Amino acid sequence: MKLTALLLTLHILGAVIWVGGMFAAYVCLRPAAGSLDGPQRLALWRGFFAKFFPWVWVAVLLLLVTGYWMMFATFGGFKGAPLYINLMQTLGLLMVALFVGLFHGPWLKFKRAVDAQDYATAGVQLNRIRQIIMINMPLGLLVVAIGGSGRFWG
Ligand code: HEM
Repeated sequence: MKLTALLLTLHILGAVIWVGGMFAAYVCLRPAAGSLDGPQRLALWRGFFAKFFPWVWVAVLLLLVTGYWMMFATFGGFKGAPLYINLMQTLGLLMVALFVGLFHGPWLKFKRAVDAQDYATAGVQLNRIRQIIMINMPLGLLVVAIGGSGRFWG
């Protein structure tokens, strides 16, 4: 029981850090950074993502380890899991795949382009990052809603 409480706490913290960070980036920082000129804006995003993405890796690790641990400990494995857990798992894995793709593709290209002061390439890659976060952020909110409320309907 105490272990489940700890696992669930870590699971929720992972979700809050990841989804909350994407929300703050997309809904708050993006419009606020709009007034900066090109190189300054790109440097700001480079600094922000360089600090945020390591936390996303921690969150992903926490969510997966604790999620599957609870799946086996609470529901006895994949077969016993109710609908909302399966929805959370499927959408959660999609979120992880999108993040891994974002990290190894556009993010690394964006970082290198900003460092090389190639602002045209950096702009294109930042736009790709924005498009992926535009999908992953609402997806994250949906998964939180499903995970948090599922026990009452799933
Ligand atoms: C990818 C694999 C995942 C698995 C296997 C998984 C599994 C679980 C399990 C077993 C629970 C406990 C449910 C219960 O006891 O009623 C849970 C709760 C929860 N999960 Fe996940 N999860 C995953 C991903 C995610 C992701 C990506 C998020 C959010 C971004 C998330 C957010 C939540 C939330 C908000 C709760 C509810 C906490 C509560 O209010 O009780 N999960 N998850």
